[in-house]
Amino acid sequence: MQVLSVSKSPPLAGEAYIHGAKNGALPILAACVLCRTPCTIRNCPDIRDVAHTLSILRALGCTCVREGGTVTVTPCTCPACHIPQALAGSMRASILFLGALLARGQEASIALPGGCPIGKRPVDLHIGVLRALGAEVRAEDHQIVCRAGTLRGCRIELPIVSVGATEHAILAAVCARGCTEIRNAAREPEVADLARFLSACGADIKGAGTSVVRITGVPSLRGAEHTVLPDRIEAATYLCACAACGGQIVLRGTEGCSLEPVLHVLAACGCRVEQGRSSITCARTGPLIAPADVTTAPYPGFPTDAQAVVMAALLRARGACRFTETVFEHRFLHVPELCRLGAQISVHGRTACITGVPALHGAELHARDLRGGAALVLAALSAEGNSTVSGMNHIERGYDSFVPTLQALGAELKMVEKPDLL
Ligand code: UD1
Repeated sequence: MQVLSVSKSPPLAGEAYIHGAKNGALPILAACVLCRTPCTIRNCPDIRDVAHTLSILRALGCTCVREGGTVTVTPCTCPACHIPQALAGSMRASILFLGALLARGQEASIALPGGCPIGKRPVDLHIGVLRALGAEVRAEDHQIVCRAGTLRGCRIELPIVSVGATEHAILAAVCARGCTEIRNAAREPEVADLARFLSACGADIKGAGTSVVRITGVPSLRGAEHTVLPDRIEAATYLCACAACGGQIVLRGTEGCSLEPVLHVLAACGCRVEQGRSSITCARTGPLIAPADVTTAPYPGFPTDAQAVVMAALLRARGACRFTETVFEHRFLHVPELCRLGAQISVHGRTACITGVPALHGAELHARDLRGGAALVLAALSAEGNSTVSGMNHIERGYDSFVPTLQALGAELKMVEKPDLL
């Protein structure tokens, strides 16, 4: 079994390049199935979730070629319409293919999607938007089966803000007959990036990135070239590594990275953070100070995906602070593991209270989800002695070159073989 061996890191120094956003690339790749001619997607991160998405596209009949950070997807005239369990089960974003396939054909089915175990994560909103657009949706044998003669534009009011359901509604509505209005839409930059790609393909979308999105259906879409926006959560992770270990780093390729709430918290903790047009510099030389309470919220609030890594950076901060998670109900899977390093954290419902400790010590840790896994690595880098982190497959789902990037910044960590005990 491969585990990550992590030692206490010296202060970090140097530069890191921020890759394209996982959450930007996945819906854009799903959108390729809607196009009649080839799509060229640049700045596409080389991560497991993207590899999975390309496997789904291939299973549907598309040809996908990766050359460095560029992926070319050549759609087929008549895509297959079923996504089997082996491909759908491991990644939640695979559900977006339903809407994209329905917009191309009259039928689509998918095994129930997977993803990180961070709460109930139902798919009722996804099913709701497809039904609102005129699809018949049934659950059969652990599959979601959809049929639609013609999708018809309509008004959709999302009961809660959902990134996936907003993207799903956009994908299904771009070729529907008539106009669709999505209210209470998610405003995440990744939603706006999807709309930019679809618009380049010939779609008519207005308001993406605001809470009201208006789409006028077009008969068909052509392929286009697109550069995926930078991954703001990857950027947040390396900034938190610098906060945890000290030192000074520069992140490149961050143009358009909307990270204000995270930068604000890091500045409040004693980091010096400067955001340029396409770079972010972070330095910490003095002690960490506990910030005011942090509450996650949909964009433009503090991102739930950054909650774990920011928490990991603050375990040794002077004072106490609270993290309240309002987006997912079980997003503290990293807390018991952080406590194994000597962190002092108590969880009460959706709030985690952290009291800073003078030092952390090495421990054997297990990653149970993507962002929580990254958080364990950051905390281990700031702990005395050695730690190991297993479950690295979670981290590989969403970080391109995670270990080499941290190594290049001076962090002490490497993958090692650990004999299986059983
Ligand atoms: C996306 C991101 C994920 C991020 C999350 C919130 C991708 C691939 N993933 O996930 O990294 O953490 O946004 O910023 O972009 N919900 C329902 N019913 C549904 C759908 C969602 O109740 O049908 C609930 C969820 O359980 C959650 C809330 O809505 O409590 C928000 O989830 P949502 O924004 O949909 O997250 P994802 O799109 O899955």
